[in-house]
Amino acid sequence: MLLELKNIYKTYIQGSMEIPVLKDINLSIDEGEYVAIMGPSGSGKSTLMNIIGCIDKPTEGTYLLDGYEIEKCKDRELSAIRNKEIGFVFQNFNLLPRQSALDNVGLPMQYAKAGKKERRERSLKMLEMVDLADRVNFKPTQLSGGQKQRVAIARAMVNQPKILLADEPTGALDTKSGEQVMQIFDELHQNGVTIIMITHSPEIASCAKRVIRIIDGELYEGTDAPKKHVASEQETPAEDTREEKEASEEEQTSEDSEA
Ligand SMILES: Nc1ncnc2c1ncn2[C@@H]1O[C@H](COP(=O)(O)OP(=O)(O)O)[C@@H](O)[C@H]1O
Ligand SMILES: [Mg+2]
Repeated sequence: MLLELKNIYKTYIQGSMEIPVLKDINLSIDEGEYVAIMGPSGSGKSTLMNIIGCIDKPTEGTYLLDGYEIEKCKDRELSAIRNKEIGFVFQNFNLLPRQSALDNVGLPMQYAKAGKKERRERSLKMLEMVDLADRVNFKPTQLSGGQKQRVAIARAMVNQPKILLADEPTGALDTKSGEQVMQIFDELHQNGVTIIMITHSPEIASCAKRVIRIIDGELYEGTDAPKKHVASEQETPAEDTREEKEASEEEQTSEDSEA
């Protein structure tokens, strides 16, 4: 067992209102699994992902990650665990706009206090792995969406974490770039990396070996979910309408959109 969430609740407080977002989540994932998380917008997927990634803490419940009892860890320990165990990939890449691809990839090694030479060598190797050896000195603005996401994957994997967490990694990409990303995930999976990815796309989810659903803060495994929700999920707006909506959301949140 690589990670185990037990009776996890997450409740946000908004003014005097309590907003229950995750309700009694129980989930175990073994090392090497490839898991997709699906579910309607606002159902709590990113909240769950942030808890799994030790970015956020649950309101209640216990979380065991590779032997660490996460709720007992201090913030500084959590940063170290995160840096060593987990790589993150986001829908809008979250690259530093003024740094080259190479420097972006090396960032997690800098936090891990690796030497300059080792950092450069390993970052180069990671960029080769994602087929971007000819783009090492390019800045994010000089790269396509698909290339930016591949830089982000190289960065996520540079410390050789056991777990790759991806929150809608293909959500902002065209079909072909999305396929390239899935191909890299597949290779990582073959090499034993544990992958947990959120996606809206049934096609992308089918690349994973296990699908779970979050609906209204509750977790369902496989085809266990209430039928009407699974059906409505298939009827989500066509790709382009959804991208438009997400693109406008990104403008407000993305760090690199101004670049
Ligand atoms: N920091 C926060 N404060 C209050 N409510 C939040 C916060 N973050 C998320 N929420 C709420 O929690 C719910 C789930 O959000 P999220 O996990 O981002 O959903 P998903 O990723 O499935 O679209 C939403 O209703 C959202 O408004
Ligand atoms: Mg989300």
